[in-house]
Amino acid sequence: MFFINNNFQRLPGNYLFSTIAKKVNEYKEANPDKSIISLGIGDVTRPLPPAVIKALHDAVDEMADASTFRGYGPEQGYLFLRETIVKEDYAPKGVDISADEIYVGDGAKSDSGNIQELFYKDAKIAVTDPVYPVYVDSNAIAGRAGFFDAIEEKWNDLIYMPCTEENCFAPQLPGEKPDVIYLCFPNNPTGSTIPKSELQEWVDYANTIGALIIYDAAYEAYISSDNVAHSIFECEGARTCAIEIRSFSKNAGFTGTRLGFTVIPRELEFGHVKLGDLWARRQGTKFNGAPYIIQRAGEAVYSEEGKAQVKELVSYYMENAKLIRETLESMGYTVSGGIDAPYIWMKTPEDMESWEFFDKLLTEANVVGTPGSGFGPSGEGYFRLTAFGTHENTKEALERIKKL
Ligand code: MLT
Repeated sequence: MFFINNNFQRLPGNYLFSTIAKKVNEYKEANPDKSIISLGIGDVTRPLPPAVIKALHDAVDEMADASTFRGYGPEQGYLFLRETIVKEDYAPKGVDISADEIYVGDGAKSDSGNIQELFYKDAKIAVTDPVYPVYVDSNAIAGRAGFFDAIEEKWNDLIYMPCTEENCFAPQLPGEKPDVIYLCFPNNPTGSTIPKSELQEWVDYANTIGALIIYDAAYEAYISSDNVAHSIFECEGARTCAIEIRSFSKNAGFTGTRLGFTVIPRELEFGHVKLGDLWARRQGTKFNGAPYIIQRAGEAVYSEEGKAQVKELVSYYMENAKLIRETLESMGYTVSGGIDAPYIWMKTPEDMESWEFFDKLLTEANVVGTPGSGFGPSGEGYFRLTAFGTHENTKEALERIKKL
């Protein structure tokens, strides 16, 4: 007899961004004359850089010719892309990563959701609170987080590391010993960062207790502060405790094009089993590689034109971030993030609950944001706005918020 995987039943409702989309669609259907501005999901709005478009066209032409056509590619990703990543992302920072430690995938969401397949069934997971919901949901689906406390709105068997105003939204080393620690810097959703020296403390801690760090660096391109590491591998000892996940979505606008990569150093092994080998085995079974044309597009991100164009994209969004931050501050809101990250984390006015503020903004200003409580219990009373809108929409959204 067939039984479903009951772990799905334990998940709280829908995936956060699906819940928001549903609410917005219902509102739109009931109010077709309203123009809604979304500063909710962190989806980019600028087109792909011209260098990327050219590489895509060229690669499509190759696929049209029998002599250059490509079928299944290497599961780990084409060497041309892996070597370019090493040369452009890691070598300039003095970070020793080689092409065979890079695993190209179809984006950071897939990799950060799938990586838990390498963990022991009862592995104790530590997450920041608030947290990108994919880390928690993927472990819950695997049965690793078994009991969602609907009153507290938290998984009672995860280790939560609260990130609050008191600790400047930086997690503290947990009291209870975890087996796996998820960290994301620049942080989604709070937009916070920690200095390299603090990241080094996490690496030292993980090495001391024999834990694994999953380091999500999807927003690395937004770092402007000198004391913030772009990669966890800038820290000494990270090669024996960390996996890093990167994305082409937020820097080069690949949210709809899908490309990312995961770095697993050769030294990373537990019980004499190399995690890179396990991941290769997992990908070999379940993944046939990112499309050739998309990997060529990814390579173009690192060309001279590509790099200049990506820089422009990042500056474009960071202008929005600055405007959102400064405008909200001038209106008396308590705001953080938006300096090394495209997310602005604001306190709701008058201690309003996050979802209450969401409804108010949607119905009275026709602006969509993301309720902080959707990211975890410590997000209650907070609200996230993204800088990924157009300048025009961002300005208009702020005008509408001012009028509230
Ligand atoms: C977000 O809004 O948190 C992200 O865009 C979601 C994602 O990248 O999957």
